[in-house]
Amino acid sequence: MIKLSPSILAADFTILGKQLLELNAVKNTAPYIHIDVMDGIFVPSISFGMPVISSIRKATDKVFDVHLMIMDPERYLSEFKKCGADIITFHLEATESPITLIDSLHTMGIKAGITIKPDTPVELLYPYLHMVEMVLIMSVNPGFGGQEFLPESLARIRKLKKHIDDNGLRCDIQVDGGIYHENVCDVISAGANIIVAGSAVFGGDIGKNMAKFDAIFAGFN
Ligand code: DX5
Ligand code: ZN
Repeated sequence: MIKLSPSILAADFTILGKQLLELNAVKNTAPYIHIDVMDGIFVPSISFGMPVISSIRKATDKVFDVHLMIMDPERYLSEFKKCGADIITFHLEATESPITLIDSLHTMGIKAGITIKPDTPVELLYPYLHMVEMVLIMSVNPGFGGQEFLPESLARIRKLKKHIDDNGLRCDIQVDGGIYHENVCDVISAGANIIVAGSAVFGGDIGKNMAKFDAIFAGFN
């Protein structure tokens, strides 16, 4: 099943609660909300943190898919759990102890996701794939919404998908950055099953944008 994870980085924060309700325009295909946390060190920008996440937790039952673009993410796992994270994805480049981190997430009852920047070889993820529920291929350099999809990402997704299938692994493949209605089919055909979209959901009419993704996904689901 192909699923959408709308990224609130592209939302209008003056009406965030209202926009979260608009995401309910489609029933099944968008069970997640993608929440980008940036620290200004691992990536150049700073986004938002725990107070924003806890307040939106009251507004929606969707799965909180938290993408941590922060150094040493192990420092904050229990705080993110407290404010409502269901899945936490960390960058392999940002931690010295990925295995301990994954174990801690599972002990806390949180699903683990692992990711890398576009310049990091996909093979570096392989030793961890049997331990995680999700692997994220970044299709832009992390740090900002609204960037252009890096075309070489498709080959990276295909390579990862082949490795997952060849080894009988079961983790979801998420792709994040520069995905629009026009290129999402290529991303799905390459092997992704969880699609992050920020600008393509929150730019313009959210209900219509969601319905368009829903119609495209119906062709695959
Ligand atoms: C980039 C973030 C993305 C971003 C995607 O660092 O991880 O989740 O919000 O935004 P769009 O879909 O606008 O590229
Ligand atoms: Zn993200």
